[in-house]
Amino acid sequence: MRRKFLVALGGAVLALSLAACSGEGAGSGGDTSEEKPGDLTIGVSMPTQTSERWIADGKAVKEKLEAKGYKVDLQYAGDDIPTQSQQVDQMITQGADVLVIAAIDGTALSGQLQAAADAKIPVIAYDRLIRGSKNVDFYVSFDNYKVGVAQGTGLLVGLGLLNKDGSKGTAKGPFNIELFAGSLDDNNTQYFFGGAMDTLKPFIDAGTLKVKSRQTTAEQVATLRWQQETAQKRMEDLLTSSYNDGSRVDGVLSPYDGISRGIITALQNAGYGKAGKKLPAVTGQDAEIASIKLINDGVQTCTVFKDTRLLAEQAVNASEAFLQDKQPQANDTQTYNNGVKVVPSYLLPIATVYKDDIKTALIDSGYWTAEEVAAGQAKN
Ligand code: GAL
Repeated sequence: MRRKFLVALGGAVLALSLAACSGEGAGSGGDTSEEKPGDLTIGVSMPTQTSERWIADGKAVKEKLEAKGYKVDLQYAGDDIPTQSQQVDQMITQGADVLVIAAIDGTALSGQLQAAADAKIPVIAYDRLIRGSKNVDFYVSFDNYKVGVAQGTGLLVGLGLLNKDGSKGTAKGPFNIELFAGSLDDNNTQYFFGGAMDTLKPFIDAGTLKVKSRQTTAEQVATLRWQQETAQKRMEDLLTSSYNDGSRVDGVLSPYDGISRGIITALQNAGYGKAGKKLPAVTGQDAEIASIKLINDGVQTCTVFKDTRLLAEQAVNASEAFLQDKQPQANDTQTYNNGVKVVPSYLLPIATVYKDDIKTALIDSGYWTAEEVAAGQAKN
């Protein structure tokens, strides 16, 4: 329950107005902003610590909120839906004032969100939209359709069909490709896969790209919980089922760096990258350090960089706005329909990172150091 609400119920209104008269209060008129940040807790629910990006996201949100004096209850759910539900329940009963949630399954938290609404706790969906509930107050993310377009384009560039500037490349094809998508319970998956397929389809229709396995629907190519091992196993199966006739895979669409590493491991185990058997072009997302090293070493083609520092900042801005009884500033009020309503959103831009972009996009901006890139490991 919002503390402000408790204060009002407790008849402390008089005390607050006295404070305002004595000039101590920050607000004016009926403003109850005499609450100190230290009295307010933001519950931050993150999906998993198996991926670096969520560790970085959680850390950045926590640090930025704490720097402003707020208390933060940061929890990771180990990619387990009941654990996340329980953690969010607990944040609500322990009196969180705002919830920031990156959902494991975008449809599994309706009960919690109703409880949050009943207790007047605003809910911010973090990077992954929460679906099927009217009780989602704001969404901070990136332009997820553009992420998909960037991944499709990255594959075309990796194959030489396009140049980085979008002009036509010198390669002719035809090329064999395979497709991977993320977890179907993550709302982002449809945007990533949709954007990528819209980009690749003209080349598939023209016969320049051939999906040799014929697995082309999101359902056929999805990767439950975005797991690296699952992707590795599927790539192994694809090599056995569709490429045991001497043909080779030239490109693989991958929606996330962890999945890309699974795919690359399967390919390397099958002899790709050795003895003149060139590794296919492989895309990715998140600029995870292990994959940045692979890109730097010429093993992975590219990744889509989404600056988690900026996303964390937007989550903090939105939290603060709600704590001050204001509406956060949205820059998109049309795209993200969660099945019940269009959720006002703040969407950040994305950038594709190829080998020659690592320095400017990631090292110069302080996202990773040159040592971390060389080692393929984060320092702390
Ligand atoms: C998505 C997110 C991606 C990637 C993926 C796997 O929701 O937008 O950036 O992190 O989850 O964790």
